[in-house]
Amino acid sequence: METTFIFVKPDGVQRGLVGEILNRFERKGLQVVGAKMLRVDEDLAGKHYAEHEGKPFYPGLIKFITSSPIMAFAIRGVDAVTVSRTLIGATNGRKADPGTIRGDFGLSGGFNMIHGSDSIESANRELALWFPEGTLEYDKSSNLWTYDPSDLD
Ligand SMILES: Nc1ncnc2c1ncn2[C@@H]1O[C@H](COP(=O)(O)OP(=O)(O)OP(=O)(O)O)[C@@H](O)[C@H]1O
Ligand SMILES: [Mg+2]
Repeated sequence: METTFIFVKPDGVQRGLVGEILNRFERKGLQVVGAKMLRVDEDLAGKHYAEHEGKPFYPGLIKFITSSPIMAFAIRGVDAVTVSRTLIGATNGRKADPGTIRGDFGLSGGFNMIHGSDSIESANRELALWFPEGTLEYDKSSNLWTYDPSDLD
């Protein structure tokens, strides 16, 4: 089992897409093990997107992420990092495949509604940053019918 970090960006919250987006993770069978709504400050935004500091889009990205509340989730499942990135789709909504979140709801490269960790290492770093109190541990009973026992080896 992996735990990944996602958040619905200000555009997704303002467009009323939090429920739609979370539903895609729930119906896939993934387990929600943390959730919080907050207004991101410059310090948290800078730490989260540190890898992009110095790039041309960085100032606009920080302005965007701090402009209005976001809703963050910790999501658990087998291969949760990769599965979540697949659900999310390519960075630019104009290029993202239909059926993905960005492909179905987006037309922008910057305002792309959702973030998802891009590796297990990123997920661990981001979860420590956004959920320093930790995430929940509880049995999801439907996992027994979501995964074949061999998926869990
Ligand atoms: N060329 C660009 N112009 C404007 N904004 C951009 C551009 N490239 C990236 N961004 C913004 O910065 C974010 C981080 O870029 P990154 O390359 O990590 O894409 P991503 O991994 O698909 O998205 P995220 O990290 O938010 O999940 C993008 O999601 C987007 O909001
Ligand atoms: Mg990224």
